[in-house]
Amino acid sequence: MNKPRAAITGIHAWVPEYRLDNFELSRMVDTSDEWITQRVGIKERRILKGEGLGTSFMAEKAVTGLLEKTSTSPDEIEILICATITPDMFFPSTANLISDKAGIKNAFSFDISAACSGFLYALHIGASFIETGRYKKVIVVGADKMSSITDYTDRTTCPLFGDAAAAVLLEPVYEEVGVMDQILKADGAGGKYLYLKAGGSAWPASHQTVEAKEHFIYQEGQTVFKFAVTHMADVAVEIMEKNDLKPEDIAYLVPHQANLRIIEATGRRMGLPPEKVMVNIQKYGNTTAATIPLVLWEYENKLKKGDNLILAAFGGGFTWGAIWLKWAYNPK
Ligand code: UT7
Repeated sequence: MNKPRAAITGIHAWVPEYRLDNFELSRMVDTSDEWITQRVGIKERRILKGEGLGTSFMAEKAVTGLLEKTSTSPDEIEILICATITPDMFFPSTANLISDKAGIKNAFSFDISAACSGFLYALHIGASFIETGRYKKVIVVGADKMSSITDYTDRTTCPLFGDAAAAVLLEPVYEEVGVMDQILKADGAGGKYLYLKAGGSAWPASHQTVEAKEHFIYQEGQTVFKFAVTHMADVAVEIMEKNDLKPEDIAYLVPHQANLRIIEATGRRMGLPPEKVMVNIQKYGNTTAATIPLVLWEYENKLKKGDNLILAAFGGGFTWGAIWLKWAYNPK
């Protein structure tokens, strides 16, 4: 038998109810709906409220919904991979916590830390397990509770981020659909422009780190913007050229949702009209590892079997990349 490909055979997402809109934010810090809309494209973001609720709380809901939607028993899942930079705690992994909450008992599970490219990294890893022929059902979750590392007194970062979780089921297929190709990259020299300094082994939590607000996201916005806008478009074009894909062959660009200007610039560089670019940043902001599966889930009913999708991301690390995916099923 030929080597299997890995196809996404189901997708589900979960977002918290609470909507923090630009008007409420502008009462918290010196900002405005106009500035955020024009510079970033966000109108509101979801925030997970409730003491003791972390990323696994949202991810379990996405995974349980995915299992129900695909009529899959938790016992059938063999691997669960969670992409996140906001784990519930250092260890055990958030993937382990999700598996426990979702009743997944026959799987091994682990986390991937690649910031905004986390879902792409995890999807490639999950697909590679399926392609070996040894695994039949793998779940990949992208989930982040960004509100837990956001400083709501810093107007340069607090409008950008939100909380969400989204999950896909990967299964083997023996036809020309599924994960077709990927280009994934990393450059640690970019780490200093977007990071969270304290709480790890180099700078463990202390009174000083708390006072210096070093448990919150630090970002040099303009520098990250310049790298993001070039690298995300470059890698999306590179995967098209590598696979001889023309703009008319592409059904949708599925971009990481960090800034509408970066998303639009990537679509333009690929030669795509705006209607072929998936966008939902206005509703959720940047949910880091969740953005790509979250937007894909919202567009699920528009997708047809065989549609060529280019998934592309850029984020902290720096990490970036693109995946060419052929959608595997028609709307149900
Ligand atoms: O997902 C991970 C990767 N991250 C990204 O891709 C994010 C990349 N960066 C960006 O998206 C943008 O750089 C930001 C949205 C973060 C900032 O937009 P910008 O157009 O680069 O703004 P800026 O930092 O150059 O600031 C322009 C002005 C400044 O004022 P002055 O110096 O011109 O007087 C800022 O102080 O806007 C001011 N500003 C604000 N004004 C109102 C910064 N934040 C705000 C704010 N409200 N929230």
